[in-house]
Parts: sequence; C-alpha cells; structure tokens
Amino acid sequence: MAEFPEGSAAPMDGGADAVERAAEAALRPKRLDEFVGQPVVRDQLSLVIEAARNRGTPPDHVLLSGPPGLGKTTLAMIIAHESSGALRLTSGPAIQHAGDLAAILSSLQEHDVLFIDEIHRLARPAEEMLYLAMEDFRVDVVVGKGPGATSIPLTLPPFTVVGATTRAGLLPAPLRDRFGLTAHLEFYSAADLEQVLRRSAGLLQADLGADAASELASRSRGTPRIANRLLRRVQDFAQVRGTGALDLAAAHGALEVFEVDRLGLDRLDRAVLRALCERFAGRPVGLSTLATTVGEEPETVETVAEPFLVREGLVIRTPRGRQATAAAYSHLGLEAPPSDVLFS
Ligand SMILES: Nc1ncnc2c1ncn2[C@@H]1O[C@H](COP(=O)(O)OP(=O)(O)O)[C@@H](O)[C@H]1O
Ligand SMILES: [Mg+2]
Repeated sequence: MAEFPEGSAAPMDGGADAVERAAEAALRPKRLDEFVGQPVVRDQLSLVIEAARNRGTPPDHVLLSGPPGLGKTTLAMIIAHESSGALRLTSGPAIQHAGDLAAILSSLQEHDVLFIDEIHRLARPAEEMLYLAMEDFRVDVVVGKGPGATSIPLTLPPFTVVGATTRAGLLPAPLRDRFGLTAHLEFYSAADLEQVLRRSAGLLQADLGADAASELASRSRGTPRIANRLLRRVQDFAQVRGTGALDLAAAHGALEVFEVDRLGLDRLDRAVLRALCERFAGRPVGLSTLATTVGEEPETVETVAEPFLVREGLVIRTPRGRQATAAAYSHLGLEAPPSDVLFS
C-alpha cells in the first residue's frame, strides 16, 4: 500500500521505513482496555461495540479524525478485533477509480471492518459509491465497456466502515452524515504519554527510569507515535553512548541529538515558527505561502505542524492567515514586535 504523508510526523524520521513501521506495529494496543487515554472516545466506542455485539450486528460506521500519530489506525484495528470482524485496509489515495472500490466492496464478508485511511482523499465517484454502500449495503457493479456496459446491483453483507482523516472538515456532508459515530482524537496529556511510554518499555523489556519517562512524555508533542519513537532513540543512545540504562541522562542525550526542544517541537515546527516570526515579522500569512517558505506541502504544514503549535498557543489562525503569538517569539528567544503588529 502507498506510504502516507503522515509518516513524516516524527522529528527524526527520514521517510518512515519498514523497520520503524514494524516497531510501531509491535507496540499497538490490540484491545480497547489497553488503549491509553482518550476517555471520551474509548467510552463511545465501547458502548457502540458492545451494543452491536448484543444485537449480533456489526457496529455502526465510525469516523476517526485528528492529527497524525494519535491512534486512528490503532483504533480501527481495535474495532475489528473487539467486534470479531476481519480487518480490510485501504486508503483514499489507493483508490484511483470507483471500480477499485467496487471490487473491494463486492468482496466483503459479513462483519468485515473496512478501514479507509485518509478518507478525505477519495475521488468523488468513489465517494458517492461509498455512501450508497454505507447506507443501503448495495453497490452497482458495472460490467463491460461502452454502449454494451450494464450495471448489476449487488447486495452487500452487513459490514462496518471505519474512516480516518486528518482533515474532517474536508469530508463532504453526505459522506460525513453516513457515519453513526464521529470521534475526534485530541493530543494526549503528559500523564497519558507517560503511561504509553511505560507500557511500550514493558513490551520492549526495557527498564525506563521514572524521571526519563516523565521527561520524554513532556517532549512528545502530545503524540503517542512520537513518544514511542523517542523511546527507541533513547534506547539507541543508551546503548551506544550511555551506560545502557534508560535514565534521564540518556533521555537528555537523545533529545539533544535529535533536536527536540523544550516543548517537544521538531525541525518543521521550528521552521514554521521562524518563518512566521522572522520572515513575516508577525504578520498574518496564508497557508500556501507559509508552506512554500518552509519547503513543505501545505497539507503537511496544516495537518502535521500546525495543530500542535495552535494548541500550545504559539500560532493563531485568523481569517487573514496564520500568525505567530508573543509566546512564539519568547520560545525562539526573539524579541516580539509591538503588539499592534501581532494582533492586528
Ligand atoms: N492510546 C494509545 N495507547 C497506546 N499506544 C498508542 C495509542 N495511540 C497510539 N499509540 C501508538 O502510537 C502509534 C501510532 O498510532 P496510529 O494508530 O498509527 O496513529 P494514526 O493512525 O492516528 O496516525 C501506534 O504504533 C501505537 O503503538
Ligand atoms: Mg494511521
């Protein structure tokens, strides 16, 4: 399957390779009660799954939204596991034509969970086919080409669509309305990330010091994927340049080597902040201009960097564009411009 742009979320990641993906898979919680944090989403899912189980039907369709690395794929797998359905994986960009989707839909078995990652990137005809299938459990399969082509309606067995998106706002309303449950994942608290780290260290049979865990948790951008990757970099550091122990010294060493700053910001985050503060001197900037300045795709800036910067109060979104706040200047150690520039 195609590699997703969200793979670029980690600070020290030069295009998530097979090793990183395998490491990530090994740390994925398999059951809902192993899934750390997100109490609201967990509660909603557990209710929907249990009610469906009691009725003997597949759970209603679920839409998961939120920034990369917060657990959308993990939850899709958990939904399949908890409802005893087989998981089928695809993604918006992998479905080029409506026919690709028709082939997937017509091969579904009862209780299958069809996971569509980056569902906001589905092409329009596929999207329309999908919402018919979600609502009526029906798909029209076109056989043949040209004037002789016929469309054969096919009834589908009951199944569940789990869609994931970093940009829920881009889903057209008719598609969004077909989901019985829309769950938005929030950034994790430091306490939750500490729990993620302790769980992962346990699975890796690594002895992670309490102060090291708390330091890493506060530098992980509220994101479990980043916490797990930092943990592995600390293991690397401890093994090669430390005493072998995953202690605070090893944590600090790794954080420094991989240029993770006090707030957990990585190179892209800082590039965005620097552009806003220095290049544009605190004035509002449009997304595409900003993206060009830092040499990234607008979607990457918007979905990977921006949500955390906004959450930390370093960047605000105004109708005229993105703007740095006084906190951004202070974080970069720069002098802020007069406040009439900043908040005009
Ligand atoms: N709530 C959680 N508890 C424990 N680990 C988590 C949690 N959410 C995510 N992870 C870990 O973070 C990694 C990335 O999660 P993933 O589901 O792939 O994120 P997304 O699909 O939203 O980008 C997974 O390998 C998983 O181990
Ligand atoms: Mg994912």
